[in-house]
Formats: sequence, structure tokens, C-alpha cells
Amino acid sequence: MNKQTETILNYHNRTKHRLERYAKGPESIDWEDQPDQFRRFSGCENITLPKPGAELDPLFAELDNPEIIPVKPSNLVNAGLMLELAFGLSAWKQFGPSRWALRCNPSSGNLHPTEAYLVSSGNDFIKSGVYHYVSHDHSLEERCQFACNLPDSGLLIGLSSIHWREAWKYGERAYRYCQHDTGHALGALRYAAATLGWSVELLAEWSDDDITKLLGLNRTDDFKPLEHESPDLICRINTHAGSKPLAIKALLENARLGTWSGKADSLRAYHLYKWPIIDEVAIAASKPGTEEPGRQAVRQQIIKSNCTKTATQIIRQRRSAQQFDGKMPPLAQADFYRLLAAVLPATAAFELWRWPPKIHLFIFVHRVEGLAPGLYALPRDNSALELLQAATLADFDWQKVAEALPLYHLVSGECRQIAKTVSCHQPIASDSAFSLGMVAEFSETIEAAPWLYRRLFWECGLIGQVLYLEAEAAGIRGTGIGCYFDDSIHELIGFKDDKFQSLYHFTIGKPLEDKRLETLPAYGHLEDFAQ
Ligand SMILES: Cc1cc2nc3c(=O)[nH]c(=O)nc-3n(C[C@H](O)[C@H](O)[C@H](O)COP(=O)(O)O)c2cc1C
Repeated sequence: MNKQTETILNYHNRTKHRLERYAKGPESIDWEDQPDQFRRFSGCENITLPKPGAELDPLFAELDNPEIIPVKPSNLVNAGLMLELAFGLSAWKQFGPSRWALRCNPSSGNLHPTEAYLVSSGNDFIKSGVYHYVSHDHSLEERCQFACNLPDSGLLIGLSSIHWREAWKYGERAYRYCQHDTGHALGALRYAAATLGWSVELLAEWSDDDITKLLGLNRTDDFKPLEHESPDLICRINTHAGSKPLAIKALLENARLGTWSGKADSLRAYHLYKWPIIDEVAIAASKPGTEEPGRQAVRQQIIKSNCTKTATQIIRQRRSAQQFDGKMPPLAQADFYRLLAAVLPATAAFELWRWPPKIHLFIFVHRVEGLAPGLYALPRDNSALELLQAATLADFDWQKVAEALPLYHLVSGECRQIAKTVSCHQPIASDSAFSLGMVAEFSETIEAAPWLYRRLFWECGLIGQVLYLEAEAAGIRGTGIGCYFDDSIHELIGFKDDKFQSLYHFTIGKPLEDKRLETLPAYGHLEDFAQ
């Protein structure tokens, strides 16, 4: 095993929550001291984007067939709308004197470590360069103006993470959550682009080094110490057919020779605790340039969505349920099956994911019409079935329960209490219709390439984003669960080593609204938008 893989394994094991002790985190939290959730760069030109909140006609259900969605022109209005629907604000919540923003993309602890950049080359509506998106203001900050225009190669969106923003609350485990959030953000971008008739191409060949250079993350003087951003990924948004192949070298040369401006404002927080293991794992998991396969799966349409709401409605109404109605009538079986079908790899939402699935679901069914409560499995790839059967408890019966889905019954029995216990005693895992663990093909993946550790979490986040939106479309609600006792779930399933590891949990059911909270409009705080 090489050194990087060893570092990652060590990080992973060390950041497991255990029944007897949680992973290392701050002993106390001073909420007054929370890092600023909104990064801004002072000293650069600011472009206010056209007024947010536009509704588009495409129905959420139509995103299953993106080719039928009318293609919107590539202009500032639509680029702004895509950014809003992916990373913009969706509402403000208020409780007494406290007020906090929610966004279209979810984030563990609502800390939002993910930053988004738009890179324009050869688009006639915005000068070629690198722009940082400020979701609070729905504006772009011009970080770099390129020296010359490049052939029109679509829009690029780059994502990075400020690990410290997450570690402030969650300590060592925070690096995992940053990766989940990146996966969610990628999913959010996919739905936003698809609503405009555009598609997302994950440029997975790029090295972290090149992403860093393009987004200017290596300009250390522009960032406060400990508040730097780590590169995550870069995507091309295909806004029309026939965009030119991407000239990566020319892009990087333009970023090198371009005129950079702005310095990141301080996140205004006192760095009381330090978590050096996060920098260590980030270095060990940094990605070199690679060759990557083309798209693998051929699209299959399995179960149709009955949702009649528009995609823009569903995207903006997405929230995490804080509590579920533990006495809800059973979830309709058709809705349950649709939710599961939506996370299979051969659907439109996973078209940007170019690799065979490495994440499989183990589902605690609590209240689903026609299904006995108990534990079920959804291997997302046929080839994983036998491996999972061999690695799990011998008395699981692996009875296929649905014609149209690779859904298997493992064992019957009331499992609400156990689901709650393994998810850090959170009632959201037991009061729902079902909750689940996302199990990764782990050791072989990271032994093949250590940086794939991050990609496993991104795949989980992408699945999570699909589940969040599909739950809204089914008239119910979901919540991501990053807090769970790793080895307790492994023991329950029967995993004896790290061939498989559970990397994320999720729960879906009928939400209970907290009536004490007031909801305010997403951009009510801004009035002077360009039309
Ligand atoms: C990776 C991840 C892990 C999360 N873990 C938990 C959790 O363990 N418990 C919980 O109640 N909510 C959890 N959440 C939900 C977040 O708290 C929620 O996304 C955040 O407060 C923003 O609210 P919103 O999703 O309604 O926009 C998680 C979300 C994500 C993306």
C-alpha cells in the first residue's frame, strides 16, 4: 500500500464516529464566531447578475429526458439563472433574532464550504476570464481578465472547498463533509443546467494543480492564512451543440498571463482549533491529471415521475426535513420505487458520471406500502451483487422484491430503533418512511488511486442530491445524514473489513414543519437588480 493510501485509510478510520466516542472535534462552539458563510473578494469588478427568481416552463419530470427541454440561449440572464438554481439562495429562515440563509444546494451543518467559479472563454456576453459567484448578492466578482479571447468552448464551472469553514464545527470529520457537499453541488448544477436545456460535462481528466491554476487558488497572497480554497472539480456546461473542443493549455496560459484582481475578505473567525490531519488527507488525496473513460451506461427509463411541478419550483423548494411524522401512513410503493429508480446509474441525472457505480444502498424500510419493515439492498451495479452477498451476513435472504428494480429483501423486522441508533441517535432516521446507508466499494477503489477517496463521497453526494429533489417531487422530504456510527452499521450488515464502507446516510419521509420558524424570500434583501 502506498503512502497516500495509508494516509487516507488512517484518516478514514480515525474520523469514524463510534458509539463510545465521536471523531475529534471542537470541545465547544461559539456561534458568534462562525466563519462567514459568504466569501467575497474585495478590490475586483463586481457584476450584478440579472434579477433572480425567474420561473421556467420545463416540468421536473421532464428532466428525465433532457433532450426534450428547449435549449435556452447562452447569455447573462441564463448563466445567472443556472448559478442561482445550483448554488443561489432559496430562502431565509428566522427564529427570534437569528436569521440564516438556505441555498439550492444543501450543506452539512449549513456551513457551505463549497465555492463556485464561472470561467468564460469566448462567450460574447461576458469578458473572458475567471469569476467568483457570490450567492448572497447573486453577483460575480471578476477575479481574472484573460489577455485574449479563446474559441467558444462553452461555460466552465469550477468548484473548490474552504475546508476550515466546515472544520470549525465538525473538526477532523469535516473533510468528508466537504466532499459530500461537492457531490451535492455537482448534482445541483446538473439539475440547474438541465432545466435550461444545457448539459454538464465533468472534466474529470483535469489535475487539481491545473484547476488550482485556472481558478487562481494558488495566489496565496490573495487569501488569509488557513482560509485558502482547495480545488475540487471543473465542469463544462454545454450550452449549445457544436462548441469547440476545450483548449486546456490555452486556458491555463490565459489564467497565467491574465490580470488578476481582488483579495479574499477574512472569514472573520478566530482559529481556535487546528485540524492538521485535514491538510494531510487533502494532500494525500490530491488528483493528478488522468485519462478517463467516456460515458458508460446507456440511458434507461424505468419508472416515470408523476410530479406536475416545474423544475424551478422543485429546485427552489428543496429543504432538509428537521423532523418527520413518525405516524405517517405508509409511503406509496410507486413513490418508493420511483425514488430508488432515480438513483440508478442509467438515468439522465447520472449521465455526467462516467464510471461504473461504486456506491450501493442498504435501506431500512420503516413505512412503505406493501413491504415488510426490515433491511433491503439496492446494488446499483449488477456486478456488485455477488460481492455484496459474499461480504454480508449469511442469513440475509437476498430475495428480489421488485420486477423493475434491483431491490433485494435481506431481513424482516422492525428496524426503527436500530436505524436511529446507528445515525447518531437522530430520530430523523427512524421517524421517516425509510432511511439508508450508502455503501462504497472502498478498499479496492482507494488502493487503485488514493484520490478516488474523494470521488466516492462525490458519488454519494450526487445520489443524495437526486434523493433530495425526488423526495420533493413525491410530495415528501429528505435529509442527508453525515453523522452515523461507521462500524456499527458495518457490523449490522456483516462487513468484517474495509472492502465495503458506509460513506453517507440519508432519510426520507413526511416532514413536520417547525411553525416557530418564519420563512423569508431568498433575495428580498436585494432590490436593485439589473433587469
Ligand atoms: C453531507 C450532509 C450531511 C448532513 N448531515 C446531517 C445530519 O447528520 N443531521 C441532520 O439533521 N441534517 C444533516 N444534513 C442537513 C443539513 O443540516 C442541511 O442541508 C443544512 O442545514 C441546510 O439546510 P437545507 O438542506 O434545508 O438547505 C446534512 C446535509 C449534508 C449535505
